[in-house]
Amino acid sequence: MVDTPEIGAAPRHVAIIMDGNGRWAKARGAPRTQGHSAGVEALRRTVEAAGDMKLPYLTVFGFSTENWTRPKEEVAALLELLRIYVGRDLDRLVRDGVRVRIIGERESLAPDIRAIIERAEERTAGNSDLHLTIAFNYGAQDEIVRAARIVAEDVAAGRLAPADVTASSFAERLDTSGLPPLDLLIRTSGERRLSNFMLWQAAYAELVFFDDLWPDFGGAQLERAIDEFRRRDRRYGGAGRVE
Ligand code: IPE
Ligand code: IPE
Ligand code: MG
Repeated sequence: MVDTPEIGAAPRHVAIIMDGNGRWAKARGAPRTQGHSAGVEALRRTVEAAGDMKLPYLTVFGFSTENWTRPKEEVAALLELLRIYVGRDLDRLVRDGVRVRIIGERESLAPDIRAIIERAEERTAGNSDLHLTIAFNYGAQDEIVRAARIVAEDVAAGRLAPADVTASSFAERLDTSGLPPLDLLIRTSGERRLSNFMLWQAAYAELVFFDDLWPDFGGAQLERAIDEFRRRDRRYGGAGRVE
């Protein structure tokens, strides 16, 4: 059961599907990889704005389990961006009080990428101003299947009774375990779909769509989305406030 929050309350947990880098580049006659570089700038701006606004939890979709189907060069460029953002920007993130966590399937990533991820998580483990979760090699169906596998293992080993398989014990086995419920989900670039992002967590999230392409996103758009969120009446299946 979730307590119905008051209309006007600020979101605690915002997630963003950062989409439209390729179209941004195409509009400039530039290669798609240039759009991804501009996308990292937008991520820097947005994380900084989230910090200024005292948003406690921000989750972003950086690379999906389906994005491996893109041309080799583009996949390489996207992996390189993780290296740049989570590797090179790390000192600044540590200084800014950002706690970094990466969700998604980790086992099949190259050891050097895994090392960057682990280092970022370790070095920021003491921070708590802004919890930045980056979904990388993430697919919600994959996440749910991995959680189901853990549940099956726990039941088989006698650590969990079948009757104790509940929404909350299941959620504890998802990658997002420990994060507060998702309040607001933003997608840029005009697409109105979830593309396998946070299917479980989005159950009662408010959805806000922008036509802006991700490289054009920043603090002003984040504020607009939060203003829109504050006007929404979240009912969670209840009868609402109508007398
Ligand atoms: C989002 O931009 C970045 C990732 C998916 C990694 P796209 O690369 O999907 O850009 P569009 O949607 O093709 O414009
Ligand atoms: C979702 O965008 C993935 C990320 C933003 C990382 P896509 O561009 O991959 O999604 P589709 O293909 O438009 O559904
Ligand atoms: Mg896209």
